[in-house]
Parts: sequence; structure tokens; C-alpha cells
Amino acid sequence: MRKKIVAGNWKMNLEYAEGVSLFSEIVNMVRDERNGDQLAVICAPFIHLNSLVQLGTDVVGIGAQNCHQKESGAYTGEISAKMIKSVGCGYVIIGHSERRQYFAETDELLAEKTNIALANGLVPLFCIGETLDERNNGSYFEVLKTQLEKGLFGLSAEDFAKVVIAYEPVWAIGTGLTATAEQAQEVHAFIRKEIAAKYDEAIADGTTILYGGSCNPKNAAELFAQPDIDGGLIGGASLKSRDFVDIVKTFNA
Ligand code: 13P
Repeated sequence: MRKKIVAGNWKMNLEYAEGVSLFSEIVNMVRDERNGDQLAVICAPFIHLNSLVQLGTDVVGIGAQNCHQKESGAYTGEISAKMIKSVGCGYVIIGHSERRQYFAETDELLAEKTNIALANGLVPLFCIGETLDERNNGSYFEVLKTQLEKGLFGLSAEDFAKVVIAYEPVWAIGTGLTATAEQAQEVHAFIRKEIAAKYDEAIADGTTILYGGSCNPKNAAELFAQPDIDGGLIGGASLKSRDFVDIVKTFNA
């Protein structure tokens, strides 16, 4: 069976002490309240990663929100996948829509980042999603297909099987507008069908596909009940320990 994952994305929030404090709360609550084999992950800004790893990767996995596409070198201000791995992280978000939009990250660049993440033993949480215009003009399946093909489908089957996909409709991120469970399920089933066509049914069946976009403790249950939704990538609600852990617990509530 594929893994159920609830991953938090803190984005560019929380000073050092705030991050330690929020993460400690989350670890304690998950340890005390966990009621299944769902996996909780927090993707934090780089400055937090080393301390969060010390606080408990056995209970909550730790990830970064980006990595550079090269192994190392003269790239002032950048952080490599190898560095992220070296502090004990297991995950890295690749291709978040905010990186595609504000940092002009292309599908080709994201394919390179995915390769380097995998080569360094990190699990890529690879994000795809359409804008509101693309949703409204009906081109969203094409857009998502292109993001999958250019970003991920160059991978061998063996490597692809290590990737987690997150469907994050851009119009639902931070807007309070959630995709309905039906809208999300329709896209997740489409993604799985594309994976089966490119690789095979077994790989498609084994791929964890998360939903992200204004996911909260109130709407998580209905979303996660859909057959092709295997968890969530949570922005705003991951900055509140109670909300985040309630979402984690949704699977076995
Ligand atoms: P929100 O949950 O704040 O809408 O953010 C979703 C997201 O971008 C997670 O990566």
C-alpha cells in the first residue's frame, strides 16, 4: 500500500526560536496522539533544519523547501541537496508554485533539481498545479500533463517510484478557496492514470499523491477520504500545532 503523508510547508515564516518551539509542540502531540501509520513531515526554512532534526525525525520527518540543481560550487547563497541530506533531512519540496512563479523555475530546471535530490537520497515532494485561468479555460489537464512529463517522466521507473507528488492548484493556495473533494479526486485520478500510461499500474498504484491548497482540519477528512488522495501538503495550517496535528490525525479519526 502507498504511504499516507501529511507534510507541512512553513514557507518563509518563523524565526529560529519560534520554529524550535512550534516543532517541539508538533513532535510531542504527534507522539502522544498518533493513531495510525500516517507519516508527518515538516518542510522548514534552511536555518531551522539542523535543530529540528535533533528534536525528532523518528516521529516527524524533516524536509527543505528547495535545493539547488548542482552538486556544489560557486553559487553564492544557494543550498545543495547534499547539504540538506547532511543535516539528516529526508525530504525536499521541488517545484512549489511560488518558486515557479516568483523565481522563474521551469519544468526543465525542476527535472534537474529532482535528479540531484534523488541522487542524494532525498525524497522529492514534487508540486504541480494549474492557475485559475487554466482551470477556467479548461486547459488544466494539459498543463498538469506537461508539468509531469517535463518535470518527472524523464526518470527511470526505479527513481520515479521514490517521488511523492503534490497537486496544488495555484488558485487554492493561501486563498481560503479549497478545491472540492470531487475536483481534487478528478485530478488525482488523472495523475495516476498518466503515471500508469508512462510507467505501469503497479508504480501508479504505489505513488503517494498529496493535495495542497487551503487544507485545514475541517476539510481534510473529506479530501483524504477520496480514493486517490493520499494526504496533504499544508501551508497556513502547519503554522498552528493543533491544526496541523488534527490534520495528521484525520486519516484514522
Ligand atoms: P495553504 O495551505 O496556506 O493554502 O498553502 C498550501 C501550500 O502552498 C503548501 O505547499
